[in-house]
Amino acid sequence: MKTSKILNVILAVAVIGLVVKVVFFSGCRPTQKNETLETGMAAINLIMSRTSIRAYSGQSVENDKVETLLKAAMAAPTAGNKQPWKFVVIKDKQILNRLASGNMKMAADADLAIVVCGDLNLTFPGEGVDYWIQDASAATENLLLAAHALGLGAVWCGIYPIQERVRMLSELLNLPEHIIPLNVIPIGYPAENPEPKDKWKPNSIHYDSWDYMEEQ
Ligand SMILES: Cc1cc2nc3c(=O)[nH]c(=O)nc-3n(C[C@H](O)[C@H](O)[C@H](O)COP(=O)(O)O)c2cc1C
Repeated sequence: MKTSKILNVILAVAVIGLVVKVVFFSGCRPTQKNETLETGMAAINLIMSRTSIRAYSGQSVENDKVETLLKAAMAAPTAGNKQPWKFVVIKDKQILNRLASGNMKMAADADLAIVVCGDLNLTFPGEGVDYWIQDASAATENLLLAAHALGLGAVWCGIYPIQERVRMLSELLNLPEHIIPLNVIPIGYPAENPEPKDKWKPNSIHYDSWDYMEEQ
């Protein structure tokens, strides 16, 4: 009798404890679903607020940030998971200055530049050979977004398919024939704060099939 009374008291205390926990604490902590939603919105805001940055402050970019940029680039999707890319990180001021002409004048003020290249020895065989361009482009966009997330400024400077630029880069960086420079990304801490461009055009979207009437 005495033992069963003690057991009842223990049981009652446990039940009350559980009720208190559920009623008072479950509402205070954000649920995992809310956390996911917040992280998701932060990621979308990051995508929407990225813009090309072409002026840099001169402050040097930390090595761990450069590594994060490269990790983000290599996290991109690739056809058949071939990862047909190579990255040339340029920190040498003389090389940055040699790059800094024509479409890449801003390279002179950048702390570094990353050249995103396709590796023709790794790309998809046969008809899919040009997938390297899409693969390296996906890596580039990841890199640009990561730069923005880290408070850095960067801009995509196109190289391939302009043959004169490809030749210039290949010579300057001593690239082997199977390595094709797709672009140069000058990077630094921003010295400008341009508004992101509004590119939202609903009439660029077609639903289910092409609506010719809507185009007129
Ligand atoms: C394939 C490609 C090539 C580009 N080449 C250059 C370039 O040579 N020089 C430059 O200043 N910007 C270049 N850009 C950046 C674009 O000018 C820029 O992305 C565009 O104006 C939209 O602006 P936003 O990046 O601020 O949204 C290039 C972008 C892409 C995708």
